[in-house]
Formats: sequence, C-alpha cells, structure tokens
Amino acid sequence: MIRLNFSDKLPLEEVLSKSKSLGRNSKIILPEAENFLIQSENFLALSILLKDFQEKIDLVYIDPPFNTQQDFFISGGRANSISAVKESPAYSDKMPLEKFLAFLWERLIIIHALLSERGSLYFHIDSKTGHYAKIILDEIFGPENFKNDIARIKSNPKNFFRSAWGNQKDMILFYAKDSRKNIWKDIKAPLNEDEIAKKFPKVDSEGRRYTTVPLHAPGVTRSGATSRPWRNIPVPAGRHWRTDPAEFDRLDSEGKIEWSSTGNPRRKKFFDEHPGKKIQDVWTFKDPLFPTYPTEKNHDMLKLIIAQSSLKESIFLDCFAGSGASLICADELGRRWIGVDQSDAAIEVIKKNLSGKYSFVSIKS
Ligand SMILES: C[S@@+](CC[C@H](N)C(=O)[O-])C[C@H]1O[C@@H](n2cnc3c(N)ncnc32)[C@H](O)[C@@H]1O
Repeated sequence: MIRLNFSDKLPLEEVLSKSKSLGRNSKIILPEAENFLIQSENFLALSILLKDFQEKIDLVYIDPPFNTQQDFFISGGRANSISAVKESPAYSDKMPLEKFLAFLWERLIIIHALLSERGSLYFHIDSKTGHYAKIILDEIFGPENFKNDIARIKSNPKNFFRSAWGNQKDMILFYAKDSRKNIWKDIKAPLNEDEIAKKFPKVDSEGRRYTTVPLHAPGVTRSGATSRPWRNIPVPAGRHWRTDPAEFDRLDSEGKIEWSSTGNPRRKKFFDEHPGKKIQDVWTFKDPLFPTYPTEKNHDMLKLIIAQSSLKESIFLDCFAGSGASLICADELGRRWIGVDQSDAAIEVIKKNLSGKYSFVSIKS
C-alpha cells in the first residue's frame, strides 16, 4: 500500500476514536426530520452524525476549499474572491499544504464511515491538491474502490498572463464504498444532431430515422440454429446468425428487416429506440456566471451525480454546502439530504436559496 505522509497525520483508528468520543460527548440531539441543515464546523457535525447515520448515507458530494490561498467574500450581493469593498467574508481558504491534507484526511475518514455499502463519494478538487487527495482516498477507500477521475471543464478559455497553459478544468474523484455494490442508474446522454445524422442516416415512410446492421456476426458456430440457412439464405462464410433465425421471422413481420434489391436482409435499428450514449469522464458543466455564493457549482452537474448514484430513498450528504447548490438539487430530485457549513454567509444564502422543507440545527462553538 502506498501512503502519503504529512505532519499532523493521525493514525486512521485514532481519528475514528477521536470522532466517536466527540460525538458521544456532544449534547446535540438531531431532529427526526427528513432533511436538515447544520451550521457547524464539519468534523464536529460529522462526528455527531456518526452516532445515528453510520453506514446509512448513500451519497456524499463535497467541494471543500481547494487551498487556493485566497479569501472569498460576498460583496454588494455578488460573490467574489477579489473585491474592492469586502463587505461580508464567506470563507477563508488559506492553510499550509500539510495542514490542509490533514484537514481532508480526518473528514474523509468519517465520511467513509458514514457511507452505506452501496454508497459513493464524489470529491471535487483541483489539480494543485487533487493528486495528493487521490492517494489519501486510496488509503481510506482502497484503490480497488476508485472509479473515476472526472475532468470537469468549468469555464470558458482564460487568457492567463502566467507562463502556463490556461486552466479550464478541475477534477472530481469518484469512489465507491464497495465498487461491486455502488448504486449506478446507468443514465445515458442523448445523441447530438451530428451523431443522430451520422448513426441513423435513413428515414422511413413514417419519418423515423434508422440505420441497418448485418444479421450475422464473425465466427463460425458448428451446430444449432445460428449456423443453418434462413429462408434458403446460407450464413456467409466464416460467420453465424446473430440470433436464432426464428427471431428474424418475427422482426420481418414487424417491418424491422430491410431487404436490398438483391435480396440481402439487414436489421433496422431505429433512433427512437436508441438508449443514448455512455457518459464519459470529461464533463463540460460551467459554473454560474453570477453565483449567489463564491465557488457555487453547476446545478445540472450536481443533478447528474445525484440521479446517477442515489435512489429515491437514499440520504445525500454535503458537509461543505456553500450556496446549498447540491442540497437544492437533492431536494428537487426528491432525495433526503443533510447539509453542513460553518459560514454565516453560506447559511444565509442556503436559507434564501432553499425552498423545500428542512430543520435547521446550529452547533456554533
Ligand atoms: C468551495 S465552497 C462550497 C461551494 C458549494 N459546493 C456550492 O456549490 O456553493 C466550500 C465551503 O466549505 C465551507 N467550509 C470550509 N471549511 C469548513 C469546515 N471545517 N466546516 C464546515 N464548513 C466548512 C466554507 O464555509 C464554504 O462554504
């Protein structure tokens, strides 16, 4: 096992027992509500949650500070990092790297303990610290439970003055608690106009777009129906029928076989029956141009994550909730959710943004 060493790194068991005793000693009783928003430092909040929610959370999305060495403000109602009139601090993102890694390490250990056996973590980070986080996550989750490093195109091209390539992406590390059991709805993406025209070039008399494919596939079968002639048509040399030819009779009676002028049959595949395409690991989801809170993330991206990796009855957690974008998306998709943030500015924005029902708990030290 490859491990990352950094100062302040407590042994994993010590972090867990520190968290359990923090939770035990806390007087806070969580409400029996469907959804709740907690204003708290999140190691404490996660420790309290551990009492009731150990292995009960199906999905965690977190977007912690990326250790950008900046302070973030909300000024004149607009979220920004650099502001002439620094009215209201949102959060500070300045830690020595080793402290930052210890901060992530401790919270990720508790998140792992909260995840159910079918659960997943989506960890949003940038490439300055993301590669350290990958090694930390491998240690906590096991490298076999790493699923994807999603490259997320976050903005339009930037005209940097520094002597480096423009930076348009950040990363989302996707881990399962157990990679054989994680919830996966296999959501597909629709084809675009070009892909539809290329993949389905023909149009039938009813205006349905389609293409045709051979009825046979490479390889010889020595016995059985897939090697016998169909309607006196022999299987081409070196090939076999894709299915029992009895099935071809059914497809033909439904108008799903196209016959060429020379009597060559091919299977029709219709665009309106196409399930869509597999979603790949490069995503373009640009963040709002006028965010309600600094670093507010794209809602369509959050909805995709939640719809893909949770069920209606799942509990969703974001313990770096910021604007509450992920909580709003979970709410809209009918998931139970728990949100945590320590910042007054964040809590104010979340309360403004959230219209669904929830209970609020404040654990300010
Ligand atoms: C990058 S922002 C999250 C933005 C959010 N994903 C959105 O779409 O709006 C990080 C958030 O983590 C919060 N935060 C940082 N450290 C925290 C801690 N130890 N406990 C609770 N919240 C924390 C900050 O207040 C900030 O709101």
